[in-house]
Amino acid sequence: MTDLPRIPLAGVIGHPIAHSRSPALHGFWLKRYGIKGHYIPMDISPANLKEALSFLPKLGFVGLNVTIPHKEAVLGLADVVSDRAALIGAANTLIFRKDGKIHADNTDGAGFVANLRQHAPRWEPTSRPAAIFGAGGAARAVIAALVELGVPEIRIANRTRPRAEALRGDFGARLQVTDWVHAPNMIRDCGLVINATSLGMTGKADFRIPLDALAPGTVVTDLVYTPLMTQFLIEAADRGAHVVDGLGMLLHQAAPGFERWFDHRPEVDDATRQAVLGA
Ligand code: ATR
Repeated sequence: MTDLPRIPLAGVIGHPIAHSRSPALHGFWLKRYGIKGHYIPMDISPANLKEALSFLPKLGFVGLNVTIPHKEAVLGLADVVSDRAALIGAANTLIFRKDGKIHADNTDGAGFVANLRQHAPRWEPTSRPAAIFGAGGAARAVIAALVELGVPEIRIANRTRPRAEALRGDFGARLQVTDWVHAPNMIRDCGLVINATSLGMTGKADFRIPLDALAPGTVVTDLVYTPLMTQFLIEAADRGAHVVDGLGMLLHQAAPGFERWFDHRPEVDDATRQAVLGA
């Protein structure tokens, strides 16, 4: 019997996983480009993570996306960790290499930047400070990307101040920590303002801060994309800000993984957005 080429399999692992939009996104691209492959959501508990990572490549998996709660744990199970994943302390993309090694990468920061490049092309990273609210895993990835882009000053406030201080310890003096209660002052003179807290998500309280110091034309973005237009973005738009929703970050962070697994660089365009929104 001749050896037929294996159909490449990829997927997303998390616990829970039912909410993930990644299957709709990758499924859309697979269909669009006529690629014989599959992308499967898999609910894997932390107790089964190690076994899953050793077994899935044997089933024909070429890689995975990783979501909560496994983003940190996979670093310890990978054979090769990219510099940016190591710096962020988490991975969202795994590549199962032909030599049997697992390569862990983090594309969240690149996805964040690509979303801004697409929807706020006039934003100049090096010209003015950026302000970021939140100091969790998502904020870490964004800060790593901003540092790499040469943003001159990154102002950060978090409800739990020590988490913001810890980021300053990791990313250096370009980060300036402000008390949560004084956070509204941070946005003065900034070129970019980011909500990286989980506030504003459907089912949670809104992210609300006084926006008096916001100059018209400032780029304002929210990592929350359910709903697409958060209360924070609505209020910023009312003040003349250039608002960018967070869905594009999800779409763009997915592209490098798709390209590595299925050998085709996918386009992130309006049809892609609609496919995910309609899922
Ligand atoms: P993620 O990986 O999405 O960043 P996370 O690590 O749980 O998730 O971080 C959530 C962020 O939202 C944190 O900055 C968190 O602030 P704390 O570090 O003080 O917990 C922020 N956040 C969540 N609920 C909040 C609330 N009610 N008020 C202010 N900040 C909140």
